[in-house]
Amino acid sequence: MNSVRLVEVGARDGLQNEARSLSVDTRIALVERLADAGLRTIEAGAFVSPRWVPQMADSAAVLRGLGERHGVTYTALVPNLQGLDMALAAGCREVAVFAAASEAFSQKNINCSIAQSLKRFEPVLAKALEAGVAVRGYVSCVLGCPFSGAVPVPQVVAVTQALYAMGCYEVSLGDTIGTGTPGATTRLIQACADAVPLSALAGHFHDTYGMAVANVQAAWQAGVRVFDSSVSGLGGCPYSPGATGNVATEELVYLFEGQGIATGVDLAKLLEVAVFIDNRLQRTGESRVAKALRARPQ
Ligand code: HMG
Ligand code: MG
Repeated sequence: MNSVRLVEVGARDGLQNEARSLSVDTRIALVERLADAGLRTIEAGAFVSPRWVPQMADSAAVLRGLGERHGVTYTALVPNLQGLDMALAAGCREVAVFAAASEAFSQKNINCSIAQSLKRFEPVLAKALEAGVAVRGYVSCVLGCPFSGAVPVPQVVAVTQALYAMGCYEVSLGDTIGTGTPGATTRLIQACADAVPLSALAGHFHDTYGMAVANVQAAWQAGVRVFDSSVSGLGGCPYSPGATGNVATEELVYLFEGQGIATGVDLAKLLEVAVFIDNRLQRTGESRVAKALRARPQ
């Protein structure tokens, strides 16, 4: 049977964008419930400046509070060596560095140019790999930038290639503002796959224009087998004005399982997690799939 790997980013990409910061206990409960539902790679926090993203403060306590679980990897974002050191101290076995394909976004998000960020990641990769910690890479704004508009494909390819060459085992291509369409997604994947192995690419789509599922399907057809998603479609990026949530994990489970592609996720349990987190955030963000399944006669 075909299978797809879903990387759950709700506890990081989701919560980082919420006006209300959740307690460490609630964040731990969210991550553990996601693992109970069958998610195997879960981004649980970010070791970034709490002045820049207050919602991710106390990520060390979240990571420390998560018990070891066979087959489950908890990861966290690290923007620099300071973040990596905190992640290592908290026991992370995998971290992610994040670059952008647009200069304007790089400046707004991490306060440096693309070239400076790549230079900054080199010692992070060296130290993490030395410690036996796997590193994933992100490229933001692969299909458009909130500040500078269109982003040339070769720019995305160059950053993707740089992260892969540095030692990232996988590079997640982020349509941070959700402006991508399936044709553009296909062309982007093909161009990146000329530079790095297709098996090292992941797709990260936001649903601002309702295109996320269509873009995931296009990327799947182009050969991508790893996708980031967020329970209940939580998310956005604090440095990406107007961008809405990530594609909802429940929509991807429905999409893939419906085509006979295994996700390993129990949809009923996942829907319970969506209700749990929506209640905690006092939000009515239920995805279309969740609403439709709930309304279906038993
Ligand atoms: P800076 O101000 O240039 O940093 O920020 P600095 O090195 O000059 O240090 C300034 C202060 O920050 C110092 O503290 C440092 O100790 C502290 P002070 O002496 O003033 O008290 N500091 C840190 N504190 C905690 N953890 C750290 C850290 N590093 C320095 N790691 C920095 C540069 C990168 C730190 C800042 O810009 C930052 O934290 N940015 C994070 C932004 C962020 O998290 N954005 C959201 C994630 S990206 C995203 O969502 C996109 C993605 O989902 C993909 C997609 O959707 O496309 C991945
Ligand atoms: Mg994102």
